[in-house]
Amino acid sequence: MTVETKKRMPITDAELIELANQARQRAYAPYSGFHVGAALIDDQGRVFTGCNIENASYGATNCAERTAIFKAVSEGGRQIRKLAAICDQETPCMPCGICRQVIAEFAAADFELLAAGSSGNFKRYTQEALLPDAFVLPTKP
Ligand code: THU
Repeated sequence: MTVETKKRMPITDAELIELANQARQRAYAPYSGFHVGAALIDDQGRVFTGCNIENASYGATNCAERTAIFKAVSEGGRQIRKLAAICDQETPCMPCGICRQVIAEFAAADFELLAAGSSGNFKRYTQEALLPDAFVLPTKP
């Protein structure tokens, strides 16, 4: 399955996972030693990547998924079509609860998470599968 990038270049799932894997190598994870990378395609066909960024005050840590999402949103993206995440382990790493809530905020109708394991194996999840009946403010425009 492919999604077109801004330059109308189709990007395959395997390529998006590879971009996430490259971002994983930039993880700043001196406390957990657990390196995570993410790559997404937004509604404008742009690709953004992210890694986890830890902090000596552990609660200030940002997950790879949110790093990529916040980069996209801060550059004007509002809808995420596809997000790939990969970590150090063979078993695909699933997003934490906070990331699932953030994904729910910005997921496009056809959103897919590609949760990848270290050898490139992956599973697909819809937004609803990640966080059924997600919280939304009644006033959200
Ligand atoms: N982490 C992510 O970046 N994404 C996930 O989906 C799960 C956890 C990071 C946060 C922290 O730096 C490390 O993995 C251990 O929890």
